[in-house]
Amino acid sequence: MEKENIYILGIESSCDDTSAAILCNNRILSNVVADQKIHAEYGGVVPELASRAHQQNIVPVVHQAIEKAGIKKEQLSAVAFTRGPGLMGSLLVGTSFAKSLAYGLDIPLIDVNHMQAHILAHFIDEDNHKKPPFPFLAMTISGGHTQIVKVTSHFNMEVLGETIDDAVGEAYDKSGKVLGLGYPAGPEIDRRAQIGNPKAFQFTKPKVDGLNFSFSGLKTNILYFVQREVKANPNFIEDNLNDICASIQYTIIGILMAKLKLAVKQTGINHIAIGGGVSANSGIRKALKDAEDKFGWTSYIPKFEYTTDNAAMIAIVGYLKYLERDFSGFDVMATARLKI
Ligand code: KG4
Ligand code: ZN
Repeated sequence: MEKENIYILGIESSCDDTSAAILCNNRILSNVVADQKIHAEYGGVVPELASRAHQQNIVPVVHQAIEKAGIKKEQLSAVAFTRGPGLMGSLLVGTSFAKSLAYGLDIPLIDVNHMQAHILAHFIDEDNHKKPPFPFLAMTISGGHTQIVKVTSHFNMEVLGETIDDAVGEAYDKSGKVLGLGYPAGPEIDRRAQIGNPKAFQFTKPKVDGLNFSFSGLKTNILYFVQREVKANPNFIEDNLNDICASIQYTIIGILMAKLKLAVKQTGINHIAIGGGVSANSGIRKALKDAEDKFGWTSYIPKFEYTTDNAAMIAIVGYLKYLERDFSGFDVMATARLKI
Protein backbone atom coordinates (compact mmCIF):
# COMPACT_ATOMS: atom_id res chain seq x y z
CA MET A 1 0.00 0.00 0.00
CA GLU A 2 1.24 3.50 -0.79
CA LYS A 3 2.23 5.57 2.25
CA GLU A 4 -0.26 8.28 3.14
CA ASN A 5 0.94 11.83 2.59
CA ILE A 6 1.41 14.03 5.64
CA TYR A 7 0.42 17.68 5.22
CA ILE A 8 1.73 20.17 7.78
CA LEU A 9 0.74 23.80 8.10
CA GLY A 10 3.59 25.83 9.60
CA ILE A 11 3.02 29.25 11.17
CA GLU A 12 5.78 31.73 12.04
CA SER A 13 5.18 35.03 13.83
CA SER A 14 8.11 35.49 16.21
CA CYS A 15 9.34 38.87 15.01
CA ASP A 16 8.25 41.05 12.10
CA ASP A 17 7.35 38.48 9.43
CA THR A 18 3.98 36.78 9.33
CA SER A 19 4.43 33.54 7.45
CA ALA A 20 2.52 30.35 6.69
CA ALA A 21 3.72 27.32 4.74
CA ILE A 22 2.33 23.98 3.65
CA LEU A 23 4.56 20.96 3.54
CA CYS A 24 3.73 17.60 1.99
CA ASN A 25 6.06 15.20 3.80
CA ASN A 26 9.40 17.00 3.56
CA ARG A 27 8.67 19.02 0.42
CA ILE A 28 7.32 22.58 0.39
CA LEU A 29 4.07 23.23 -1.46
CA SER A 30 3.82 26.89 -0.44
CA ASN A 31 5.67 29.38 1.74
CA VAL A 32 3.96 32.76 2.04
CA VAL A 33 5.71 35.60 3.89
CA ALA A 34 4.20 39.01 4.64
CA ASP A 35 6.98 41.27 5.85
CA GLN A 36 6.15 44.44 7.72
CA LYS A 37 7.41 47.55 5.94
CA ILE A 38 6.12 49.75 8.78
CA HIS A 39 9.29 49.23 10.89
CA ALA A 40 11.60 50.80 8.30
CA GLU A 41 10.52 54.32 9.35
CA TYR A 42 11.62 53.58 12.90
CA GLY A 43 14.99 51.98 12.03
CA GLY A 44 14.11 48.78 13.87
CA VAL A 45 11.24 46.49 14.84
CA VAL A 46 8.60 48.15 17.05
CA PRO A 47 7.04 45.28 19.04
CA GLU A 48 3.58 46.81 19.44
CA LEU A 49 3.29 47.55 15.72
CA ALA A 50 4.57 44.07 14.90
CA SER A 51 1.89 42.26 16.87
CA ARG A 52 -0.82 44.48 15.40
CA ALA A 53 0.41 43.74 11.86
CA HIS A 54 0.49 39.99 12.64
CA GLN A 55 -3.16 40.19 13.65
CA GLN A 56 -4.01 41.80 10.33
CA ASN A 57 -1.88 39.42 8.26
CA ILE A 58 -2.38 36.03 9.80
CA VAL A 59 -5.75 35.07 8.28
CA PRO A 60 -4.95 36.12 4.68
CA VAL A 61 -1.43 34.65 4.87
CA VAL A 62 -2.65 31.23 6.06
CA HIS A 63 -5.48 31.32 3.54
CA GLN A 64 -3.02 32.07 0.72
CA ALA A 65 -0.63 29.32 1.80
CA ILE A 66 -3.41 26.73 1.70
CA GLU A 67 -4.70 27.99 -1.64
CA LYS A 68 -1.23 28.10 -3.24
CA ALA A 69 -0.54 24.55 -2.04
CA GLY A 70 -3.69 23.42 -3.83
CA ILE A 71 -5.04 21.52 -0.84
CA LYS A 72 -8.09 21.85 1.40
CA LYS A 73 -7.62 22.62 5.08
CA GLU A 74 -9.42 19.35 5.89
CA GLN A 75 -6.41 17.51 4.41
CA LEU A 76 -4.03 18.96 7.03
CA SER A 77 -2.43 16.40 9.34
CA ALA A 78 -1.21 18.90 11.96
CA VAL A 79 -0.55 22.58 12.68
CA ALA A 80 2.99 23.57 13.72
CA PHE A 81 3.75 27.02 15.12
CA THR A 82 6.63 29.02 16.59
CA ARG A 83 6.44 28.90 20.37
CA GLY A 84 9.58 31.02 20.89
CA PRO A 85 12.02 32.63 21.21
CA GLY A 86 10.74 35.97 19.97
CA LEU A 87 8.64 39.00 20.83
CA MET A 88 5.83 38.02 23.19
CA GLY A 89 3.09 40.04 21.47
CA SER A 90 4.09 38.60 18.08
CA LEU A 91 4.36 35.01 19.30
CA LEU A 92 0.93 35.20 20.93
CA VAL A 93 -0.77 35.89 17.59
CA GLY A 94 0.64 32.78 15.90
CA THR A 95 0.19 30.62 18.98
CA SER A 96 -3.48 31.52 19.49
CA PHE A 97 -4.25 31.14 15.81
CA ALA A 98 -2.53 27.74 15.57
CA LYS A 99 -4.34 26.47 18.67
CA SER A 100 -7.75 27.54 17.41
CA LEU A 101 -7.23 26.05 13.96
CA ALA A 102 -5.88 22.72 15.24
CA TYR A 103 -8.73 22.55 17.76
CA GLY A 104 -11.34 23.37 15.11
CA LEU A 105 -9.98 20.78 12.68
CA ASP A 106 -9.39 18.26 15.48
CA ILE A 107 -5.78 17.62 14.45
CA PRO A 108 -2.54 17.64 16.47
CA LEU A 109 -0.80 20.85 17.48
CA ILE A 110 3.02 20.96 17.35
CA ASP A 111 5.11 23.65 19.03
CA VAL A 112 8.40 24.57 17.40
CA ASN A 113 11.52 26.27 18.69
CA HIS A 114 12.43 29.02 16.21
CA MET A 115 16.19 28.49 16.63
CA GLN A 116 15.91 24.75 15.99
CA ALA A 117 13.84 25.60 12.94
CA HIS A 118 16.55 27.83 11.44
CA ILE A 119 18.85 24.80 11.69
CA LEU A 120 16.40 22.12 10.55
CA ALA A 121 15.50 24.22 7.49
CA HIS A 122 18.41 22.31 5.95
CA PHE A 123 16.25 19.17 5.94
CA ILE A 124 13.63 20.60 3.60
CA ASP A 125 13.78 18.43 0.50
CA GLU A 126 15.00 20.57 -2.39
CA ASP A 127 16.50 19.62 -5.70
CA ASN A 128 20.24 20.33 -5.65
CA HIS A 129 20.43 21.02 -1.91
CA LYS A 130 22.64 18.68 0.02
CA LYS A 131 21.63 17.98 3.62
CA PRO A 132 24.31 18.11 6.30
CA PRO A 133 25.26 14.75 7.86
CA PHE A 134 25.21 14.35 11.67
CA PRO A 135 27.06 15.59 13.59
CA PHE A 136 27.42 19.07 12.12
CA LEU A 137 27.93 22.61 13.38
CA ALA A 138 25.22 25.18 12.70
CA MET A 139 25.83 28.90 12.85
CA THR A 140 22.62 30.91 13.03
CA ILE A 141 23.19 34.54 12.13
CA SER A 142 20.37 37.06 11.84
CA GLY A 143 19.00 40.31 13.20
CA GLY A 144 17.81 38.50 16.30
CA HIS A 145 20.34 35.72 16.86
CA THR A 146 23.95 34.66 16.69
CA GLN A 147 24.67 31.11 17.82
CA ILE A 148 26.98 28.20 17.11
CA VAL A 149 25.21 24.91 17.78
CA LYS A 150 26.46 21.32 17.72
CA VAL A 151 23.77 19.21 16.08
CA THR A 152 24.00 15.48 16.82
CA SER A 153 20.54 14.52 15.57
CA HIS A 154 17.35 16.34 14.57
CA PHE A 155 16.44 17.04 18.17
CA ASN A 156 19.75 16.73 19.92
CA MET A 157 21.36 20.15 19.82
CA GLU A 158 23.85 21.85 22.10
CA VAL A 159 24.54 25.59 22.02
CA LEU A 160 28.33 25.95 22.06
CA GLY A 161 28.35 29.72 21.94
CA GLU A 162 26.09 32.72 21.43
CA THR A 163 26.11 36.47 21.56
CA ILE A 164 26.24 38.07 24.96
CA ASP A 165 24.71 41.31 23.63
CA ASP A 166 23.76 42.31 20.05
CA ALA A 167 23.15 39.87 17.21
CA VAL A 168 25.36 40.10 14.13
CA GLY A 169 22.49 41.44 11.99
CA GLU A 170 22.01 44.18 14.57
CA ALA A 171 25.68 45.09 14.19
CA TYR A 172 25.00 45.54 10.47
CA ASP A 173 21.77 47.44 10.97
CA LYS A 174 23.05 49.75 13.71
CA SER A 175 26.25 50.54 11.80
CA GLY A 176 24.04 51.30 8.81
CA LYS A 177 22.03 53.72 10.91
CA VAL A 178 25.21 55.59 11.90
CA LEU A 179 26.04 55.83 8.18
CA GLY A 180 22.56 57.09 7.30
CA LEU A 181 21.57 53.93 5.41
CA GLY A 182 18.02 52.57 5.38
CA TYR A 183 16.77 49.70 7.53
CA PRO A 184 17.68 46.87 7.40
CA ALA A 185 21.16 47.96 6.31
CA GLY A 186 22.79 44.52 5.97
CA PRO A 187 22.12 44.05 2.24
CA GLU A 188 23.31 47.58 1.33
CA ILE A 189 26.48 47.33 3.44
CA ASP A 190 27.13 43.99 1.74
CA ARG A 191 26.60 45.47 -1.72
CA ARG A 192 28.93 48.41 -1.06
CA ALA A 193 31.47 46.18 0.70
CA GLN A 194 32.01 44.32 -2.54
CA ILE A 195 33.30 47.45 -4.26
CA GLY A 196 35.15 49.00 -1.31
CA ASN A 197 38.56 48.46 0.28
CA PRO A 198 38.23 46.13 3.31
CA LYS A 199 41.53 47.32 4.79
CA ALA A 200 40.82 51.05 4.52
CA PHE A 201 39.79 51.41 8.17
CA GLN A 202 40.38 49.28 11.21
CA PHE A 203 37.84 48.47 13.89
CA THR A 204 38.50 46.70 17.14
CA LYS A 205 37.54 43.07 17.44
CA PRO A 206 35.82 42.10 20.70
CA LYS A 207 37.68 39.93 23.15
CA VAL A 208 35.18 37.32 24.26
CA ASP A 209 36.32 33.98 25.58
CA GLY A 210 35.41 30.67 24.02
CA LEU A 211 32.69 30.51 21.41
CA ASN A 212 30.56 33.41 22.62
CA PHE A 213 30.19 36.58 20.57
CA SER A 214 29.86 40.26 21.38
CA PHE A 215 28.95 42.98 18.89
CA SER A 216 27.97 45.95 21.01
CA GLY A 217 31.57 47.19 21.40
CA LEU A 218 32.05 47.16 17.65
CA LYS A 219 28.90 49.22 17.20
CA THR A 220 30.20 51.87 19.63
CA ASN A 221 33.63 51.76 18.02
CA ILE A 222 32.11 52.48 14.60
CA LEU A 223 29.89 55.25 16.01
CA TYR A 224 32.80 57.09 17.67
CA PHE A 225 35.02 56.59 14.64
CA VAL A 226 32.43 58.10 12.29
CA GLN A 227 31.67 61.00 14.65
CA ARG A 228 35.36 61.82 14.96
CA GLU A 229 35.99 61.68 11.21
CA VAL A 230 32.89 63.71 10.36
CA LYS A 231 34.07 66.44 12.71
CA ALA A 232 37.25 66.75 10.64
CA ASN A 233 35.52 66.29 7.27
CA PRO A 234 31.73 66.78 7.07
CA ASN A 235 31.71 64.77 3.81
CA PHE A 236 33.63 61.86 5.32
CA ILE A 237 30.75 59.39 5.02
CA GLU A 238 29.88 60.23 1.40
CA ASP A 239 33.53 60.29 0.39
CA ASN A 240 34.33 56.90 1.92
CA LEU A 241 31.06 54.98 2.15
CA ASN A 242 32.11 51.90 0.17
CA ASP A 243 35.41 51.63 2.04
CA ILE A 244 33.71 52.05 5.42
CA CYS A 245 31.19 49.33 4.51
CA ALA A 246 33.95 47.02 3.26
CA SER A 247 35.94 47.56 6.46
CA ILE A 248 32.91 46.87 8.67
CA GLN A 249 32.11 43.72 6.71
CA TYR A 250 35.74 42.56 6.85
CA THR A 251 35.73 42.96 10.64
CA ILE A 252 32.39 41.16 11.15
CA ILE A 253 33.23 38.24 8.86
CA GLY A 254 36.61 37.96 10.59
CA ILE A 255 34.83 37.64 13.95
CA LEU A 256 32.41 34.98 12.68
CA MET A 257 35.10 32.93 10.95
CA ALA A 258 37.47 33.04 13.94
CA LYS A 259 34.74 31.55 16.15
CA LEU A 260 33.85 28.93 13.56
CA LYS A 261 37.49 27.89 13.29
CA LEU A 262 37.67 27.55 17.06
CA ALA A 263 34.45 25.49 17.09
CA VAL A 264 35.84 23.14 14.42
CA LYS A 265 39.06 22.81 16.41
CA GLN A 266 37.21 22.06 19.66
CA THR A 267 34.74 19.55 18.23
CA GLY A 268 36.62 18.02 15.32
CA ILE A 269 33.47 18.56 13.22
CA ASN A 270 34.01 20.25 9.88
CA HIS A 271 30.54 20.15 8.35
CA ILE A 272 29.22 23.70 8.73
CA ALA A 273 25.63 24.75 8.08
CA ILE A 274 24.53 28.37 8.27
CA GLY A 275 21.10 29.93 8.59
CA GLY A 276 19.40 33.27 9.35
CA GLY A 277 19.22 36.46 7.24
CA VAL A 278 22.94 37.23 7.44
CA SER A 279 23.75 33.97 5.64
CA ALA A 280 22.77 35.85 2.46
CA ASN A 281 25.96 37.87 2.97
CA SER A 282 28.49 37.57 0.15
CA GLY A 283 31.42 37.85 2.58
CA ILE A 284 30.41 34.88 4.74
CA ARG A 285 29.60 32.81 1.66
CA LYS A 286 33.00 33.50 0.17
CA ALA A 287 34.78 32.86 3.47
CA LEU A 288 33.05 29.47 3.79
CA LYS A 289 33.91 28.58 0.21
CA ASP A 290 37.56 29.48 0.88
CA ALA A 291 37.49 27.35 4.05
CA GLU A 292 36.32 24.38 1.96
CA ASP A 293 39.41 24.69 -0.23
CA LYS A 294 41.81 25.66 2.54
CA PHE A 295 40.71 23.54 5.50
CA GLY A 296 38.60 20.80 3.90
CA TRP A 297 35.32 21.97 5.47
CA THR A 298 32.00 21.27 3.81
CA SER A 299 29.50 24.09 4.04
CA TYR A 300 25.73 24.08 3.69
CA ILE A 301 23.68 27.15 2.84
CA PRO A 302 19.91 26.82 2.44
CA LYS A 303 17.91 28.50 -0.27
CA PHE A 304 17.52 32.18 0.61
CA GLU A 305 13.77 32.01 1.29
CA TYR A 306 14.43 29.36 3.95
CA THR A 307 17.23 31.30 5.70
CA THR A 308 15.32 34.44 6.70
CA ASP A 309 12.34 34.09 9.03
CA ASN A 310 9.80 31.87 7.27
CA ALA A 311 7.19 29.24 8.02
CA ALA A 312 8.65 26.52 5.79
CA MET A 313 11.30 25.94 8.44
CA ILE A 314 8.59 25.71 11.10
CA ALA A 315 6.67 23.21 8.96
CA ILE A 316 9.71 20.93 8.45
CA VAL A 317 10.21 20.74 12.22
CA GLY A 318 6.47 20.02 12.47
CA TYR A 319 6.90 17.16 10.02
CA LEU A 320 9.90 15.69 11.87
CA LYS A 321 8.02 15.92 15.19
CA TYR A 322 4.90 14.48 13.59
CA LEU A 323 6.86 11.37 12.60
CA GLU A 324 7.80 10.97 16.26
CA ARG A 325 4.26 11.74 17.44
CA ASP A 326 5.73 14.59 19.47
CA PHE A 327 2.58 16.70 19.86
CA SER A 328 1.77 19.63 22.19
CA GLY A 329 -1.06 20.02 24.65
CA PHE A 330 -3.48 22.89 24.04
CA ASP A 331 -2.19 24.50 27.23
CA VAL A 332 1.22 25.16 25.61
CA MET A 333 2.27 28.79 26.05
CA ALA A 334 4.24 31.17 23.85
CA THR A 335 7.68 31.54 25.48
CA ALA A 336 9.69 34.65 24.61
CA ARG A 337 13.00 33.31 25.96
CA LEU A 338 12.71 29.70 24.85
CA LYS A 339 16.09 27.91 24.82
CA ILE A 340 17.22 25.26 22.33
O1 KG4 B 1 16.59 36.19 9.52
P1 KG4 B 1 16.14 37.59 9.31
O2 KG4 B 1 15.31 37.89 8.10
O3 KG4 B 1 15.31 38.11 10.52
C1 KG4 B 1 15.73 38.03 11.84
O4 KG4 B 1 16.42 38.98 12.25
O5 KG4 B 1 15.42 37.02 12.51
O6 KG4 B 1 17.46 38.48 9.29
C2 KG4 B 1 17.44 39.85 9.04
C3 KG4 B 1 18.83 40.41 9.25
C4 KG4 B 1 18.90 41.92 9.23
O7 KG4 B 1 19.69 42.33 10.31
C5 KG4 B 1 19.60 42.22 7.90
O8 KG4 B 1 20.34 43.41 7.92
C6 KG4 B 1 20.49 41.03 7.75
O9 KG4 B 1 19.70 39.92 8.21
N1 KG4 B 1 20.90 40.77 6.36
C7 KG4 B 1 22.17 40.88 5.93
C8 KG4 B 1 22.15 40.60 4.55
N2 KG4 B 1 20.86 40.33 4.18
C9 KG4 B 1 20.11 40.43 5.31
N3 KG4 B 1 23.29 41.19 6.59
C10 KG4 B 1 24.43 41.21 5.89
N4 KG4 B 1 24.50 40.96 4.56
C11 KG4 B 1 23.40 40.65 3.85
N5 KG4 B 1 23.49 40.41 2.54
ZN1 ZN C 1 14.99 34.04 12.99
